[in-house]
Amino acid sequence: MNILVIGRGGREHALCWKLKQSSSVKRIFCAPGNPGIGRIAESVSIEPTDIAALRAFAMAKRVDLTVVGPEEPLAIGIVDEFERYGLPIFGPSRAAAQLESSKAFAKNIMRKAGVPTADYAVFDDPDAASRYALARNCPLVVKADGLALGKGVVVCETAQQALAAIDDAMRRGVFGDAGRRVVIEERLFGEEVSYFALVDGTRAITLGLAQDHKPVFDGDRGPNTGGMGAYSPLPHLGDELEERIRRLIVEPTLAAMATWGAPFRGVLYAGLMVNGPRIDVLEFNVRFGDPECEAMMMRFSGDLAEALLAAAQGKLSEQHVRLSPSFGVAVALTSRGYPGNYERGFPIRGLERAQTVADVEVFHAGTALKGDTLVTNGGRVLIVSARGDNLEAALRRAYQAAEMIEFEGKHLRYDIGMRALRKKSLEGN
Ligand code: AMP
Ligand code: GLY
Repeated sequence: MNILVIGRGGREHALCWKLKQSSSVKRIFCAPGNPGIGRIAESVSIEPTDIAALRAFAMAKRVDLTVVGPEEPLAIGIVDEFERYGLPIFGPSRAAAQLESSKAFAKNIMRKAGVPTADYAVFDDPDAASRYALARNCPLVVKADGLALGKGVVVCETAQQALAAIDDAMRRGVFGDAGRRVVIEERLFGEEVSYFALVDGTRAITLGLAQDHKPVFDGDRGPNTGGMGAYSPLPHLGDELEERIRRLIVEPTLAAMATWGAPFRGVLYAGLMVNGPRIDVLEFNVRFGDPECEAMMMRFSGDLAEALLAAAQGKLSEQHVRLSPSFGVAVALTSRGYPGNYERGFPIRGLERAQTVADVEVFHAGTALKGDTLVTNGGRVLIVSARGDNLEAALRRAYQAAEMIEFEGKHLRYDIGMRALRKKSLEGN
């Protein structure tokens, strides 16, 4: 097979790395890729949103399967475009991608399907939104309806904050068109987890649960980032959780999408709040999480190319997905200042040595080549992933490798996996 992967981050590097292990894969192209991806795949300088150029490239190079990493191309209809030309592609149609690209759409599907989620209302009129926020006597979350680079959600402590968030999104347009419509919902409390499944239109095969660490500093302090680290699976939350998610959330959602006329294909990523016996959906995404993907790929031991092709063709079965019983972790090395302003262009050292640590892979997220020198070129620079028979072993390897890598302003969180470890130590005492 010839494969085209679309995207430029750590997630796409991890996907290329795993796809490369498939015996059926001949060539891997990545548009646009990055310097790390460039070592294992052929980089193609086409932007992920230039879907006409990507389609023409896929036809010219006889690409047998296209795998889309980020959400933007899905939201603007890359799958519809490829399918019009008979090109196999893994991901949801534009209509089905609304599960992520419109929070109002996702909430309405959940309501129709009876999927547990926070109480909500949708507004196009800022005055009506403000009246609602004042009338509700509970903590609220204000969400821009559309894609806002992960910044469109404001978790509010007070009604004043909710009013300010409504004003920013709807009157001042800080999220552009994405925030002209908002969803206002009840604030939930508990432990956040991410659930992933491969879906072929009707069948969903689980890839398991992972936990992201969004705030920039240890102990979940500081502003939210795209994700500072992740680990998978999450046995500390019990054996039945995945089965309940499947029954209460995944199956009814997929059935509702099919009934509505947009059967879902691709990765279904449910962001969930777990609180005792209660599970609520915070959001759906229609792609792999980043850095969750870099942790999960360390456990995936099936043939990824065959699995994604089967999902694209509506022929997915249990045997396509094999997960090793080990743990996968991912630790992000970021630039000082991220998620705010940061400098780029600092040389990166120690990468080769870090790669020699057993069961470690270092994925590139924001790097560039300046001549022959690898330099920092993003907020998240590298994602150090590791595998281990238990969580502690996987973390030890990841941090050992992370320490070997140096660049000016390097920052990382040292408490990835803390929730699982704390639970374990409480149970041990
Ligand atoms: P979303 O993009 O909808 O997942 O929101 C981003 C983040 O906002 C989530 O990861 C949660 O931390 C937080 N969040 C979203 N909705 C809620 C809610 N209803 N209650 C509490 N926190 C929320
Ligand atoms: N790690 C969060 C996301 O990919 O949306």
